[in-house]
Amino acid sequence: MLTTERLIIRPFLKSDYQDLYEYLSLSETYRFEPGKPISLNEAKKLCRERAKGTNFWAATLKDSQKLIGHVSFFPLGPEFLLAWEIGDIFNPAFQNQGYATEAVRAIIKYAFMEFGAHRIVGHCSPENPPSWKVLEKCGMRREGLLRKYFYVHKDKDGNPQWLDSYEYAILDEDFK
Ligand SMILES: CC(C)(COP(=O)(O)OP(=O)(O)OC[C@H]1O[C@@H](n2cnc3c(N)ncnc32)[C@H](O)[C@@H]1OP(=O)(O)O)[C@@H](O)C(=O)NCCC(=O)NCCS
Repeated sequence: MLTTERLIIRPFLKSDYQDLYEYLSLSETYRFEPGKPISLNEAKKLCRERAKGTNFWAATLKDSQKLIGHVSFFPLGPEFLLAWEIGDIFNPAFQNQGYATEAVRAIIKYAFMEFGAHRIVGHCSPENPPSWKVLEKCGMRREGLLRKYFYVHKDKDGNPQWLDSYEYAILDEDFK
């Protein structure tokens, strides 16, 4: 569990489903994220799965304990490279208040200080400034533009709608 000025960042609990549903049921959440709006039952299932794993961190308000967003943190490539990929999704009702930056910053710090990460990477569309602004505010550097690197939606004929992606990264030596 990590504590910041306004947040408690902790593993998911089964009981988080209503708060998770609040933002994963909105179509605007999926503009740059794979998937589509989920039902309350799907939110329950997702919370049960996430509560068992370690790849998703719940960002909750210190005062009310409400879940307002989450940060994903996945190992990237072979273990000996000590690399992870970070991502985030926050409830629109709580966006633009610095919460994602606060949560991502705390996880980066934890990864470098507590489990010896060497490199943490983030990918995001150039058309999604809130996303890359968070990474920049957390000290990550834009290392390049990957052409047609990912897609989240297909067109009506089933063809991927490819999107470019910035690659951002921070190294342990940058952090120190
Ligand atoms: C990306 C996301 C997690 C950011 O969450 P957040 O809590 O709003 O982030 P923060 O408040 O810490 O920072 C957002 C920054 O983007 C800026 N911003 C917001 N909308 C913007 C826009 N349309 N154009 C330019 N900047 C914008 C904010 O002003 C803020 O920067 P500032 O502190 O310099 O003013 C949130 O927008 C989100 O969940 N989006 C949907 C899911 C998604 O796309 N995730 C990323 C996938 S790679």
